[in-house]
Amino acid sequence: MTAPADLTVNEKKVLLALEREKGRVWDQQAVAEKTGIQEDAAMQAAYMLAQKGLCAIHEEKSFYYQLTEEGKEDVEKGLPERRGLDLLPLPLDEFKQSFRDEQEANIATNWLLRKGWARFEDKDGEKVLIPTGNTSWGSPGFNVDEAFLRIARDEGEITEELLLNRVKEGITELKDKALRRFLGDVAKKRNLLALSAAMERSIAITEAGQELVAQGISIEEELAQLTPELIRTGAWKGRKFKTYDVNLPSKEEFPAKIHPYQRILDMMRRIFTEMGFAEIKGDLIQSAFWNFDALFVPQDHPAREMQDTFYLSVKKPLDVSEDVIKNVKEMHEHGGSLPSTGWGGEWKKELGEELLLRTHTTAVTLWYLASHPEPPVKVFSIDRVYRRETIDSTHLPEFYQLEGIVMDKNVTFSNLLGLLATFYKKMGFPSIRFRPGYFPYTEPSVEVEVFMPELGWLELGGAGVFREEVTNPIGVKYPVLAWGLGIERLAMLSLGLTDIRDLYRSDIDWLRKTRIFR
Ligand code: FA5
Repeated sequence: MTAPADLTVNEKKVLLALEREKGRVWDQQAVAEKTGIQEDAAMQAAYMLAQKGLCAIHEEKSFYYQLTEEGKEDVEKGLPERRGLDLLPLPLDEFKQSFRDEQEANIATNWLLRKGWARFEDKDGEKVLIPTGNTSWGSPGFNVDEAFLRIARDEGEITEELLLNRVKEGITELKDKALRRFLGDVAKKRNLLALSAAMERSIAITEAGQELVAQGISIEEELAQLTPELIRTGAWKGRKFKTYDVNLPSKEEFPAKIHPYQRILDMMRRIFTEMGFAEIKGDLIQSAFWNFDALFVPQDHPAREMQDTFYLSVKKPLDVSEDVIKNVKEMHEHGGSLPSTGWGGEWKKELGEELLLRTHTTAVTLWYLASHPEPPVKVFSIDRVYRRETIDSTHLPEFYQLEGIVMDKNVTFSNLLGLLATFYKKMGFPSIRFRPGYFPYTEPSVEVEVFMPELGWLELGGAGVFREEVTNPIGVKYPVLAWGLGIERLAMLSLGLTDIRDLYRSDIDWLRKTRIFR
């Protein structure tokens, strides 16, 4: 059995208030007001009393309707179709101009037609809106939607049941199901009423509670916090401490946290930095020379066409040494001094001078390599790239790539596969697969894929060993392992999303629920 001494101060205050006015219906606000305790704390005390059988809490969820901002405006000025009806007959073009904007004009036209208040007639080749003479909606002589809005305006917040009953007072022939459908139209389709849910609690003292109060309850202040001051002075001795029950229901808290996508970017940076890489940054606007030519992409390659690449309308002379330009030209035309045929034809410098939004970050690592041709080089870059893509669940026109290169005397293709497997493992993807791939600048080349039940095998990135046609013109003598990984796709898998666009929607519920640690 609970003794008065087992109760916290808040519990005692709540119990005494409940006992003093037993007949009253107590809700959490009333308890808070009467006891002078904050609502959350008062409710917490009530739950603790309920656990001890000293009070009973009855909970009920209620749904309320309330006018939205748009609803408030419409109820004051009249629904757009109501205002529109007063203007008829009128040619459609003129009719549309009587409204604030196109959207409001369309709402008025659609609902006038849907409610059967107006119809179109063709007069001298012009579309004219003509009133039909019918001006009710719902049942003859009655406008259900306007009645919902009027009642919601007069009542402020109103429960669904009450709202339906009040509307029913004006009409008899509509069944509940039909009325609810009309309410759905006004609330969900037209967004004129907003639905909110509230938990209502009623609290009452039990017999056991009353018996305990009868034993006499005295309120002695409790310590909620042990401060250094209390310890130093010894004032804590003999005092009563507030007890806590961490299992009691409490208000959900949503503390600030770093965006999940940003956390993934940070994690990638950390992994590469821990593996001994340095981060580099390059220009977002690149010349076609660095984005394509120096990477041995032929000048007539489809990826260079307008449909894939965003070109700027200006050109700029190349800020590359004449030697490198000459080497690249010769490599394209006949393979330079290598046993390669090149692509043949004439390589045109003007095409290399075109400026574009980089289509991949490989432009950045290659440019870095050209100015650091001596081994070892171990760098990565995380940055945005741009392509003219149709947006869908796995494609964006602007996305991030994680690019990297390793250049050293004895590095091999197996080192590249091992490095990528390690990276994906650290990111939480132990099973990936490598598929032979093709890029004009690497040989051998692979594509990295991961399996996703909803989407099948998803391509996460490309990698390979730079061809000599790429390294030779910039004076690099050793093998270069290179890769470019799509970050959004990886982030999407990592966060359990099935649509790449969700990463940028920043839906507040999703942000709140996304865990920081998995
Ligand atoms: C490249 O961009 C190569 N530069 C990668 C590379 C670098 C290969 C170095 C060899 C050596 P690709 O076009 O496949 O390759 O793009 C790489 C990754 O970016 C893709 O696997 C994919 O994960 C991601 N990606 C490509 N297009 C999109 C898009 N529209 N939206 C989101 N992610 C994309």
